[in-house]
Amino acid sequence: MHLYGTQELNALGHLTIGGVDTVDLASEYGTPLYVFDEALLRRNCRAYMDAFARHWGGEYAVAYASKAFMVTAMAALAHSEGLHLDVVSGGEIATALKAGVPAERLFFHGNNKSPDELEFALQVGLGRIMVDSVDELELLADLAGRLGKRPRIFLRLTPGVSAHTHHYIATGQLDSKFGIAIETGAAMAAMRQALATPAVELVGLHCHIGSQIFDLEGYVAAANRMLDFMAQVRRELGWTCGELNLGGGLGVRYTDEDAPTTPDHLAQVLCTAVKAKLADLDLPEPRLVVEPGRSIVGEAGTTIYTVGTIKDIPGIRTYVSVNGGMNDNIRPALYQAQYDILLANKANEPAVKVVSVAGRSCESGDMLFHDVAVPAGIERGDLLAAFTTGAYNYSMASHYNRFPKPAVVFVKDGQADLVVRRETWDDVVAYDLVPDRLKAAVGSAQ
Ligand code: LLP
Repeated sequence: MHLYGTQELNALGHLTIGGVDTVDLASEYGTPLYVFDEALLRRNCRAYMDAFARHWGGEYAVAYASKAFMVTAMAALAHSEGLHLDVVSGGEIATALKAGVPAERLFFHGNNKSPDELEFALQVGLGRIMVDSVDELELLADLAGRLGKRPRIFLRLTPGVSAHTHHYIATGQLDSKFGIAIETGAAMAAMRQALATPAVELVGLHCHIGSQIFDLEGYVAAANRMLDFMAQVRRELGWTCGELNLGGGLGVRYTDEDAPTTPDHLAQVLCTAVKAKLADLDLPEPRLVVEPGRSIVGEAGTTIYTVGTIKDIPGIRTYVSVNGGMNDNIRPALYQAQYDILLANKANEPAVKVVSVAGRSCESGDMLFHDVAVPAGIERGDLLAAFTTGAYNYSMASHYNRFPKPAVVFVKDGQADLVVRRETWDDVVAYDLVPDRLKAAVGSAQ
């Protein structure tokens, strides 16, 4: 069994997080429940800040990729630890602003930002807009000109590096919906166009090669491609890149099969490689930016479910159904993602029975955890904890089957605080409207 952060087993054989018994959390807040270990969130933020301070030394920024888990409390926490925020929608911008994060600390990403979102970003004075295509450059320049603003922009480039990761979440290769390719010459053409566009101020270049990455060679390869490009741009266009954003993507531990490395190791490898290459190419040091998401929040999140129906098909398998599923964690269905689990109220009992944990939505594909071991006495009402559910779980949650979204709590030093309240059935129908003609139909049917 692998425990994360402040997780422990108490004398009752219960899983505790942040000094709080998860059995108490379940009875107070209900299940499914997302529980975040605040001390681990902070430790992960600090690990990145310290690592880049140590290994880069010069100017740097760590931008939390908020798509991994974005709620107002998380934006506030990341900001309080000195991180910038990477945002990808008007909703994420609004969340950050609600948390009191200054707009200047936000970097705006996305392959198809809407005119409304770009206008919002311009009006509030977002720190950097990461321009994803020439099409977007033209749209942004037009809006900026009309509003009398001059945004600071990055160009997002695809360095032609394919990270060793699931293909849905790999982004740095040529055939990607994101970014402008270096190898086809498109990036150089976009550079010329951006520099000839007075409505924007080009300040830097960005790349991101993928997510859940363990092999740091991909980062080094991408950084080298970016630096070669920076040198070429300097030679041919006389423009010096002042800020270099190398994206996020560091992997985390889901199961024994994952062997993640640390932010410190990433920083060491990346900064050493970048410094050597800068020296080779005789380029000045840019401000270095990284954008971790999963590695800040992934291992800090645990989902607590309640066990319901248990169905044994002799000789085939035992299905243990829980009161959540693809609604709160789409990753097993979407990426065949695997997780470690534990019965939170029977954590001391030997896990000897192999079962498959099913979600409760009306879809056979809603299986959460295949062939996981649980105590022989597993029964209705037990609490099942799934580890490493902090990243891309809450943020990808859906209302399929009209299940209300779960609550989120932060725990720390024996205290639990609700940061997102549980939705109710009233919340689920709150946005529905019924046209008059249908109201009449409802009336006549009664
Ligand atoms: N920067 C950019 C431009 C990104 O697109 C992403 C993630 C990140 C940073 C943060 O990457 P991270 O450090 O979290 O790996 N839903 C998928 C992951 C999608 C990643 C999207 N972009 C999953 O559940 O695995």
